[in-house]
Amino acid sequence: MAIKFGRPLERVHPLPVGPESAAAEHRLDLAVRPRRNRRTEWTRRLVREHVLTTDDLIWPLFVVDGVNVRAPVDSMPGVARLSVDQAVRAAEQAAKVTIPCIALVPYTDPAKRDEAGSEGLSADNLVCRTVRAIKKEVPEVGILCDVALDPYTSHGHDGLLRDGIILNDETVAVLVRQALVQAGAGCDIIAPSDMMDGRVGAIRAGLDANGFGDVQIMAYAAKYASAFYGPYRDAIGSNATLVGDKRTYQMDPGNTDEALREVELDIAEGADMVMVKPGLPYLDILARVKQTFGMPTFAYQVSGEYAMIMAAAGNGWLEGDKAMIESLIAFKRAGADGVLTYFAERVAEQLRKGHA
Ligand code: PBG
Repeated sequence: MAIKFGRPLERVHPLPVGPESAAAEHRLDLAVRPRRNRRTEWTRRLVREHVLTTDDLIWPLFVVDGVNVRAPVDSMPGVARLSVDQAVRAAEQAAKVTIPCIALVPYTDPAKRDEAGSEGLSADNLVCRTVRAIKKEVPEVGILCDVALDPYTSHGHDGLLRDGIILNDETVAVLVRQALVQAGAGCDIIAPSDMMDGRVGAIRAGLDANGFGDVQIMAYAAKYASAFYGPYRDAIGSNATLVGDKRTYQMDPGNTDEALREVELDIAEGADMVMVKPGLPYLDILARVKQTFGMPTFAYQVSGEYAMIMAAAGNGWLEGDKAMIESLIAFKRAGADGVLTYFAERVAEQLRKGHA
C-alpha cells in the first residue's frame, strides 16, 4: 500500500458500494477527502494556518512641503504626498485603525538637493519636522525613518558619489549623522536602506554613544537592485535625477546565499529587525531568512508591486481588494512578522469589515 506523510492512500477495508444509485457508480473509494475541511466558511476559518491582522502592518507615507497638501503620485493610484499637517491626520488614522507603525519618506524640494545630500543632516528638514509633529499629536504610533541619501542628493544615489563611484565608508559617516538627527527628532526605528557595508554597526554605535540606546534598527538587510522601485522614485522625485543605477550597492537578483550573508552581518552589527525587499518576487529569500535566523523579519511590498495591483484593478482586470489581501497573506505564509505596504490603511479597513 502506498504511504504518503504516514497516511494510507488506499482503504484498508474497502467500503461496500451498493450498485443501486448512479452516484454510487462513479463514487471513488477515497478515505481521504481534503475538500471536507473546505466545505464551509466556519471550517475554513478553523483550519486556517496564517492570518493577517493590523498588527502586521507598517504604513509608508510620503511627505512634502506646504500646508493642507495631498498631491497624488500618478504611478501609485490612491497614494499622495502629504504635507506635515496631513501626515499627522494619517498618523491619527493609523492609530484609529490600529496600525502600529508608519514609515516616513520625504519629497525634498529640488532646490535643497545637492551632491552631498546635506539636507538630510538638517535637524529641521521635512522628515524631522514631520516626526516631531506626529510625536506631539499621536505619540502612541511608532515611527520608522529611512536612512539613505537618495531623497536629498542631486544625483539620486543613496550615498556619496565621486568620479562615478559610490563611496562606502565616507557615506557611512554621513548616514550615522542622518540617523542621529532623526533619532533626535523622536524617530523610533532607524531603517538604513542604503546597503553600504558596515552601516548598521556604525549607526548602532552612534546611537548608543548619543543617548539613543532605545532606538531600534530595522535593517534593509537584503535589498535587491530592483525595477520595482520605479514609482517610489517618482514619488520622491529621484527618478528624474538618478544617474546610472544602484547595482554596485544593492544586491543582484540572481543571488540567494548572499542575502543570508548580508542578514547575518546586520544581525551581528546590532540590527533589531531585518527586512527583505522587494516583497512578492523575493518570497523565497524571505522564507529562507526567517527560517535561518528566526529574527523579527519584515518584507517591503514595494511601490511597483502596489502599482501593478492597482493598475490591474483600475482596468477591471482583477479584484483589487482581494488581490491585495492575498498578496499580504503570502508574506505571512513565507514567515514575515510584518509588511511595509502602501495598502496598509486599505487593508485595515477590509479587516475591520471582516474581509480577510
Ligand atoms: C531609498 C529607498 C528606496 C525604496 C525604499 N527606500 C528606493 C531605492 O532604493 O531606489 C523603495 C521603496 C518602494 O519602491 O516602495 N534607498
